Amino acid sequence: KTVNIDAARVDKGGYKHFMAKEIAEQPVVMTEVLGHYVKSDGIQFPNQDIDFKSINRLTMVACGTAYYACFVAKYWFEQLAGLPVEIDVASEFRYREPPITSGTAALFVSQSGETADTLAALRYCAGKADKIIAVVNVPESSIARESDVVLPILAGVEVGVASTKAFTNQLMTLAVLALEAAHQRGRLTDAELGDYLENLRSLPGILNTALGIETRCEEISLKLAEARDILFLGRGRMYPLALEGALKLKEISYIHAEAYASGELKHGPIALVDQHVPVIVIAPRDDLFDKTVSNMQEVMARGGRVLLVTDQKGAEEAGDGVWETLIMPEVDAFFAPILYAVPAQMLAYYTAVAKGTDVDQPRNLAKSVTVE
Ligand code: G6P
Repeated sequence: KTVNIDAARVDKGGYKHFMAKEIAEQPVVMTEVLGHYVKSDGIQFPNQDIDFKSINRLTMVACGTAYYACFVAKYWFEQLAGLPVEIDVASEFRYREPPITSGTAALFVSQSGETADTLAALRYCAGKADKIIAVVNVPESSIARESDVVLPILAGVEVGVASTKAFTNQLMTLAVLALEAAHQRGRLTDAELGDYLENLRSLPGILNTALGIETRCEEISLKLAEARDILFLGRGRMYPLALEGALKLKEISYIHAEAYASGELKHGPIALVDQHVPVIVIAPRDDLFDKTVSNMQEVMARGGRVLLVTDQKGAEEAGDGVWETLIMPEVDAFFAPILYAVPAQMLAYYTAVAKGTDVDQPRNLAKSVTVE
C-alpha cells in the first residue's frame, strides 16, 4: 500500500521549498488543532472517549520525528498526569514483543498513518492493550482505521520529507491529551487546567513571533554549513528537541549531527569537542537552565564553539564566551519544546540551502516508509 501525496496539487505559495512553506504555516495549523480540541469550556475530544482513570500505563510507539514527539510527550504525561510512560521506536518495539500489562493504553503517532513498523507495532498491541490511540495527520490511514481512538493533528498535507508542521501539531495534540489525562486523574484542578490551556492558546502567537529568527538562522547556518560534525545538547524536555534538531540537520544537510542529554556530555561526547565541532545548546530558561549553562561552559573551556538557543534573559545569564546566540521569544517553560522546534527546523533548513542540497526530497529518504 502506498500513500498518494500529489505534490503537484499542493502549491509552494511563493516559497522556495515546501519545507519553508510548512515551517511558516505552523501558527495557522496550530491554531486549527487547538480550536479542534480546546473549546471555551475546556478540552473536548469529539466522538472519542478515553478514561484515563482506568489506565495505569501509557506505551507510545512511533518512528523518526513522530518518535521524538512521543519523547517530549513522555515528560508531559509523567509530570502532569503522574502516568508512567514507555516510549519506543516501532522497529524495536515490534520484535521485542514487550509484555502489555492490564491497564495499558498504547498510543501510536504517525504523520502518514502508514509507516510499516508503526502499523506492525499497533497490530502487536491489538487485543492486548486496553485502548489503542492513534495520533495521525491522515484520518483515513491504516493506523487510524485500526485504532479505538483517532486524534487527527489537522496539519494539512505535508510535502517536505523532513517533518515540520506535523511535528508541532503532534506536540500540540499530545499536550492537550496530557492535560486531559492530568485533569481526569485529579492531578490538575479546573483552575490549574485553565492556566495551562491559556498558555497553550498563547503559543501560536509566540511561534509566529519566533519565525522572526529566520534572518539570524540564515546567517548562522552559513557557518554551520562548513562543519563536518555538529553536536546538539538539551536537558529534560529539551533533550528530545536536541534529538529532533540533529535528525532534521542530518536528513537535509547531510552533515553528521548527534544529540546528547546535556548531563551525558562528560560520559563520552566531550571527547569530540574542539574548535571544529559546533555545539548547539537548546536551553530556554527553565528549572534546569543553570545545569545546562555549566555543561556549556565545560564545552567552551575545551575550545568548543557554542551556539546557544535561549531567550534574552537566558543569554544574559549565560554570560560571555558563547560563539553565537539565537534569541527566542519568552515562553512558559513547560510547553517550550513546541516553540523551540522552530530553531531546530530553521537551522537545518538554511544549512541545507547553504549546501545546495535537495531540501524537500533528500537523497535516500522517503516521506512515508511503507515497507520494513
Ligand atoms: C520517514 C520520514 C520522517 C518521518 C518518519 C515517520 O522517515 O522521512 O519525516 O518522521 O518516516 O513517519 P510517520 O508518517 O509515521 O510519521
